[in-house]
Amino acid sequence: MALHTVCSTADLAIGEKRLVQASGQAILVYRLEDGWFATQAKCPHILAPLAKGKIVDGHLVQCPFHRARFDIRTGKCTQWANWPPGLVDVLNAFRGEKDLRSYPVRVSGDQVQVEIA
Ligand code: FES
Repeated sequence: MALHTVCSTADLAIGEKRLVQASGQAILVYRLEDGWFATQAKCPHILAPLAKGKIVDGHLVQCPFHRARFDIRTGKCTQWANWPPGLVDVLNAFRGEKDLRSYPVRVSGDQVQVEIA
């Protein structure tokens, strides 16, 4: 386990996210009402950049490609790829539902740190 400082607490307002690199990995860091969180940056469906997705309902990130949704706090998929109707079913036949990898986040002073195994 290693802690990587990825940004300052002043860098993100509540409801924002930022793409960072840590330990050679692309990671999305989020600041929510519930605190700070981090997940893998690419959607597990066909690797869309979740940094271009939107945060909905205060704690879900929605993929910009086919609208899969994931709980930022746990990485759990709450809705798999569903857009556009019909066409996405072809993709889903060989890209089944997966959760996002999530990473523990610690705030130390004004430093936001992500723990990566
Ligand atoms: S790439 Fe994210 S839902 Fe398809």
